[in-house]
Amino acid sequence: MSDPRVRFEIAHLARVELLSPKPQETEDFFTRFLGMYVTHREGQSVYLRGYEDPYQWSLKITEAAQAGLGHAALRTHSPEALERRAASLIDGNVDHKWHESDYGYGKTFSYQSPDGHNLELLWEVEKYQAPPELQSKILTRPSKKPLQGIPVKRIDHLNILASDVTAVKNSFERHLGFETRERVVDGEVEIGAWMSTNILGHEIACLRDAQGERGKLHHVAFYYGTGQHNVDAAEMFRDYDIRIEAGPDKHGITQAQFLYVFEPGGNRIELFGEPGILQLEPDYETRTWLMEDIDTGLAIGGAKLPFETYFTYGTPSKLSVEEHAEAFLTGPPPETVETVPDAVENSRATANAPAS
Ligand SMILES: [Fe+2]
Ligand SMILES: [Fe+2]
Repeated sequence: MSDPRVRFEIAHLARVELLSPKPQETEDFFTRFLGMYVTHREGQSVYLRGYEDPYQWSLKITEAAQAGLGHAALRTHSPEALERRAASLIDGNVDHKWHESDYGYGKTFSYQSPDGHNLELLWEVEKYQAPPELQSKILTRPSKKPLQGIPVKRIDHLNILASDVTAVKNSFERHLGFETRERVVDGEVEIGAWMSTNILGHEIACLRDAQGERGKLHHVAFYYGTGQHNVDAAEMFRDYDIRIEAGPDKHGITQAQFLYVFEPGGNRIELFGEPGILQLEPDYETRTWLMEDIDTGLAIGGAKLPFETYFTYGTPSKLSVEEHAEAFLTGPPPETVETVPDAVENSRATANAPAS
């Protein structure tokens, strides 16, 4: 259980860095299709924001040999909260470093999740100030809605894969005050956890890595707030040859409307329709999904989540998503999928699972 006194010390997910072996194509994906603005370039990185992201950037794309998560940063509620949360993590013996942060952000505490994901905490930010031509007449909107693609409003959440979901969940609960709103168990083993410090249904999720590997990314999600946009985006991606993995549909878990696609660098991106279940209860109790209810949890409307990618592919990956899917569909099922429960393999909401 998280300590209720620290629940609000983390305000929200501020930014994510994605690594891409095809940085120009990845940048084009986020600007042309998702209407994100480029705010800065430096070295091998480009910095972007959605039209309602409050800071200088919410997404950094950095050229790298393989796709994956560079880092994710959470903003604290105050400078004191940053010190307290860092002290708690240091008390928990994490590898850590204090440093001056990236463009548009200040003092930053970097550490690794129990599974090796690069995570950061920070308080100091530079608020985005639109130039006159981009200022919106809507006062709560930091910039105009752009006239290209189906523009996302802001970053929404991060979903990481882990060899040990419980260890990652415990770290977010104990040190950062996250509450686990929903989880999935296979017998005694936690295979998924959806966590938040604010009213959103989740800002951090963690799924069990089917390969048993550590530190991978499952997806980063960007927010529309309107289900119709997921349908419009699916049409756009279909027409322009962006690989759609699943959706549009709605998960039972978090009640999130989803559309999963792969950006050209190989990272999975989720487009988020309605905000899903919002949580206002201070004494909310975690809901636990059992394997017998997994179909509802995965996709209420019956969309199929492809076994050969959704349950087995994360980044970095030695194979491209196309090669990875091909290997699963044509070869014998690799031993490494043993960590995917039979109930998921046999789920009506899962497509192309190996016969068990
Ligand atoms: Fe998600
Ligand atoms: Fe999702």
